[in-house]
Amino acid sequence: FFAPEGSRSLIEGARLDLRLFAAARIGSVTEPVVLGIESSCDETGVALVRGTSLLGHSVASSVEEHVRFGGVVPEVASRAHLEAMIPTLERALDEADLTMADVDAIAVTSGPGLTGALLVGVAAAKALAFAHDKPLYGVNHLAAHVAVDQLEHGRFEESMIALLVSGGHTELLKVDDIATNITLLGGTIDDAAGEAFDKVARLLGLPYPGGPHIDRLAREGDPKAIDFPRALTHAKDAERYRWDFSFSGLKSAVSRHVQREQAAGRELNIPDIAASFQDAVCDVLSRKAVDACLHFEIPRLVIGGGVAANGRLREFLEERTAAAGIEMRIPPRSLCTDNGAMVAALGAEVVRRGLKPSPLGLAVDSGLPVSDIVARG
Ligand code: KG4
Ligand code: ZN
Repeated sequence: FFAPEGSRSLIEGARLDLRLFAAARIGSVTEPVVLGIESSCDETGVALVRGTSLLGHSVASSVEEHVRFGGVVPEVASRAHLEAMIPTLERALDEADLTMADVDAIAVTSGPGLTGALLVGVAAAKALAFAHDKPLYGVNHLAAHVAVDQLEHGRFEESMIALLVSGGHTELLKVDDIATNITLLGGTIDDAAGEAFDKVARLLGLPYPGGPHIDRLAREGDPKAIDFPRALTHAKDAERYRWDFSFSGLKSAVSRHVQREQAAGRELNIPDIAASFQDAVCDVLSRKAVDACLHFEIPRLVIGGGVAANGRLREFLEERTAAAGIEMRIPPRSLCTDNGAMVAALGAEVVRRGLKPSPLGLAVDSGLPVSDIVARG
């Protein structure tokens, strides 16, 4: 066998090129692993996401500790986050079969939410980022509620209209890019949709959080039994409040109905009240969301937030989007309420865009607007 001088290094070189080629190919499909941490309200959530794949996640909730107060007590929530953070992180890593060494970046909710609760997650994320030398990204909780759908239905390839319905927020958004470009079209001028569910549930003597209880009871009730108001849907509201919502009048109407029934000595028909109230909320939410898709000529709707778990809202939206030729994306119920997967999902998109990490001095912002997707300071 005759090997001219230099041929050996040629062969070695070709082998190396092949290895690099293979690595590059793997690189193109193997995206960074992002750890997401959520602690803005009463759920401590930690998850690991690669691209749009959920590798593992864990949620610990302090909801039981708030039930007797009828709402989240910030101090109780913060303490519970502190206790749950490390075990939740360990469970998420175990489920994903990864260690901190496998994590490429850390994303954490830095707002909006309860300041004390946010601080626990952000402090944990900073400590992990510093100790393991990973980039840190403070991300927006509201944008994360929308981004989580990508774990189920793949990336948003085009502009979307998003309906965000949670305990603290009710907003209609135009999402041109989930990591860099979200415009607030409108939102509630008083109570959030979830807040309305919780307050009405309380009026009806149901436990906190009320949404799931109303959802369940409404299935046995008649949605047409009581004609509750649908605020800001009339012709006179079209100009100023087309994309806005108002639920406090509806809550008062339910309260008046309950008082009237009790004064007349009649027993409350809880399923009928629940169904009629729920229909009023979901009718308005779905009507305005579909109207926004048609108006902006964006035939794609995604919904997010705890109230997106509501059965009647899903039904209304499925019917109305199908009739209008709008593609509908609804995340699975388990990912609608607060969790770490939503934060990791948004973090993965932010990392993919090559955006600059947040500083280690990152502050929390309880009122962070939805258009601030990555925290800068
Ligand atoms: O998104 P989320 O978990 O926390 C916030 O960021 O606020 O939303 C919690 C809210 C609560 O108001 C709860 O009552 C409501 O979501 N919720 C529901 C349902 N599941 C949760 N509302 C209506 N129907 C449901 N099935
Ligand atoms: Zn939330």
